[in-house]
Amino acid sequence: MSGRKGRRLLLIPLPVQGHINPMLQLAEILHSKGFSITIIHATFNSPDPSNYPHFTFSFFQDGLSQTQPSDLLNFLVEFNVKSVDPFKDCVTKLLRTHEAEEEPVACLISDAICYFTQAVADNLQLPRIVLRTSSISSYVAFLAYPLFRQRGYIPTQACILEEEVEELAPLRVKDLPLIKTEEPEKYYELLSNLLKETKGSLGVIWNSFEGLESPALKKLSKEFSIPMFPIGPFHKYLSSSSSSSSLISQDQSCITWLDTHTPNSVVYVSFGSLAAITETEFVEIGWGLGNSKHPFLWVVRPGLIKGSEWLETLPSGFMENLEGRGLIVKWAPQQEVLAHSAVGAFWSHNGWNSTLESICEGVPMICMPLFTDQKVNARYVSHVWKVGLQLEKKVERGEVERIIRRLMDAKAQGKEIRDRAFKLKEEAKVCLLQGASSYSSLQALVTYILSFH
Ligand code: UDX
Repeated sequence: MSGRKGRRLLLIPLPVQGHINPMLQLAEILHSKGFSITIIHATFNSPDPSNYPHFTFSFFQDGLSQTQPSDLLNFLVEFNVKSVDPFKDCVTKLLRTHEAEEEPVACLISDAICYFTQAVADNLQLPRIVLRTSSISSYVAFLAYPLFRQRGYIPTQACILEEEVEELAPLRVKDLPLIKTEEPEKYYELLSNLLKETKGSLGVIWNSFEGLESPALKKLSKEFSIPMFPIGPFHKYLSSSSSSSSLISQDQSCITWLDTHTPNSVVYVSFGSLAAITETEFVEIGWGLGNSKHPFLWVVRPGLIKGSEWLETLPSGFMENLEGRGLIVKWAPQQEVLAHSAVGAFWSHNGWNSTLESICEGVPMICMPLFTDQKVNARYVSHVWKVGLQLEKKVERGEVERIIRRLMDAKAQGKEIRDRAFKLKEEAKVCLLQGASSYSSLQALVTYILSFH
């Protein structure tokens, strides 16, 4: 660890798992560079501070009415409106306290989606940098939202779904970060605020690396006059497991189960912390996995299946008939799972953390994106980086079985994809080495933060 720098950073994540993880990883990285860390968190979905005795935590009452962000758009808008005053009070107190402790606050690092923090930071004359937890390529697609509005893409007409969007090739209309909503203007306003307050910040930190996304990075650097810091993959700086920021307890028994399997034999299936699927899709996935004859480890988070508690819609005796070929858990230690030699493919919803974690372990993906940035990520995985296949059709057992077999095939297309995934994994390692892109970008970020007075 570098010597302490006598400077403190305030970090505020968006309170959902896929955003808390990278923000806390970033906090660990910056702590290792000598900064003291205060995490400002909403009371909603708060991680366990006892896992971070080296950080200070400060909570504010978010006043959210939702217990789970099932309606993401309204959740995000509500969070940005209701958090302003309590967040401002919290930061005002912290600035005073840390000043008195002779550890002045160097800057605020805010999740870019918490766009309300810009006005607060301006008001308190606090430098603000943002962390954008998505891929850079998906952010470029978000930037094009005036085009979506002009072409009336929400609601999306079924007949144009397959059309390529020339300005964002290789994205098709169905790959755009659109959502199903009755209130498209509300969504566009959210994007407008997000982009405006990102541009209004002093810099953007990305959990990605230059070698992976240099065309998108170049495009953004032309549009933004602020510095960009692609310093990822974050989790690869850290030796500890991801369990500390997990809101659900991770079932370690699946690692012992994986230990009993041969290399590259298991299909790992997980759709992240927010996604929801129908009962029919759930059952079709089950049959497809079973019929593929490949062993599988499947994360079925309570809440994943709309209208079900947990597994009750699976036909009775389904798991027993697999004779140990399948294991279902509620939540897994995902980074350890992906790093396990037994895992040969990851069937993912392509949230950015999952996508990057898979890339870092060289695990080929089956892509089944569900909303917003996931759709862009899936297209990049299958058609730009070419380390996966996208499930394009409806979720149906025959289709599921076919795609698993294609990807798990040790010859033909499966092998080509696996070889490319292996190469990309190497790139993800190299960028962190001394003098390489992410390493240098992190050094630049530290210097930049220290230049704030
Ligand atoms: C959300 C959005 O859905 C996603 O589109 C966006 O890119 C980030 O925020 P989420 O859907 O939860 O995230 O997906 P993802 O980004 O993949 O993050 C999930 C995190 O939970 C990963 O870090 C993963 O390692 C972890 N996880 C997942 C577990 O620890 N155990 C599990 O069983 C599943």
